[in-house]
Amino acid sequence: MLAGVIGATGYAGAELVRLLSGHPEVTDILSASVSHHGESIESVFPQFVHARLGTLLEPADLIARSDIVFGALPSGKGEAYAKACLDRGVSYIDLSADFRFDEDEEAYRAWYGKSYDYGELRKRSVYGLCELNREKIKTLAGQGPLIIGNPGCYPTAVSLAAFPVMAGAAGVVPSGYIIADAISGVTGAGRETGRAYHFPECADSASPYKVGSHRHTPEIFRNLNNMSGPDTRPRGGIQLVFTPHLGPFNRGILATVYFPLDGCGRPAECRPAAAELAEKTARIRDACAAFYHDEPFVRVLPAPLAAATNRVRHSNYCDLSIHLDQSGATLIIVSAIDNMVKGAAGQAIQNMNLICGFDERRGLEALPALF
Ligand SMILES: NC(=O)c1ccc[n+]([C@@H]2O[C@H](COP(=O)([O-])OP(=O)(O)OC[C@H]3O[C@@H](n4cnc5c(N)ncnc54)[C@H](OP(=O)(O)O)[C@@H]3O)[C@@H](O)[C@H]2O)c1
Repeated sequence: MLAGVIGATGYAGAELVRLLSGHPEVTDILSASVSHHGESIESVFPQFVHARLGTLLEPADLIARSDIVFGALPSGKGEAYAKACLDRGVSYIDLSADFRFDEDEEAYRAWYGKSYDYGELRKRSVYGLCELNREKIKTLAGQGPLIIGNPGCYPTAVSLAAFPVMAGAAGVVPSGYIIADAISGVTGAGRETGRAYHFPECADSASPYKVGSHRHTPEIFRNLNNMSGPDTRPRGGIQLVFTPHLGPFNRGILATVYFPLDGCGRPAECRPAAAELAEKTARIRDACAAFYHDEPFVRVLPAPLAAATNRVRHSNYCDLSIHLDQSGATLIIVSAIDNMVKGAAGQAIQNMNLICGFDERRGLEALPALF
């Protein structure tokens, strides 16, 4: 199969090229770039020297020759490519936000500042969080070429932490007020050259950004709602506070998600005994592990392990660790992913595998890198 990557000169696109080069079903990779077409990809990424990846094409040329196309472009740039793919009868996997909001154009316009260019494409698009929408993706793929709105990196980390809780499978009743704090490595910003990403500005420091207003907030919020059915949705609705941070490392997202439970805020003298707390934590952990038992890429960690970015590095895994605070009334789930893999290119390939009917793990089985 011939896989095409538009935006191969960006971080997520280059990661796609790297992962696809080891995919057993992919015989060849075509790469495209607007600003570098005609050059070789190793002139941008010398890591690919001697890999025989050919020259960077113009996007239209790539679309005309590929069996499946990935778009790793800034949001707002991919719709015309998606349309050209569907017109040619091939599927398009979009890593930007352009297809993450389905038919909710209003939410997309509010957070991304533009309207849809081809709204009708959403009839053939599906949000590609595989753990949530696997059956929808397969069904749509069975009907012809489709578009995948590959999830955002923060939404992937936070949503996978929240899924068992929101689906009512963790054996607890959350209040609906959910706080997610997350920290991302600098590659999350792509090849951004703004001052905040210069080495002296971001090394040896961590800082919040876009507090209370990050674009991934509506995507996470929508996911939490979709994950909870009418029976499990908190009665007062879901309220979400999401705060992203920039961390002094290259890869990885660590999200800590807080779910207040019944009794949250009760006085210290009402705290449960240590044994009772440990037993309750184990019960919730077991329930989450059972929920994700058949998921190839979600690992609920045994106690006393805590999720960490360096244990999922270069892999498609999402690690979850389950904790309770001392009062036993706040459930804390920590989620770790590699933003470039499960948060972007790896998840996109997981979607390709679903669309093409390959084993979902194909090309993604590698264990995390140690360093
Ligand atoms: N980095 C991450 O961890 C991550 C995680 C999840 C999702 N994403 C999403 O993935 C997308 C790409 O992110 P990135 O981090 O790889 O960004 P990036 O490093 O800035 O790369 C973006 C690439 O898009 C290409 N491009 C720009 N305008 C284009 C156009 N009109 N037509 C074709 N290509 C165009 C550019 O290549 P040329 O100038 O060579 O054409 C550039 O290399 C974004 O939507 C981002 O939100 C990124």
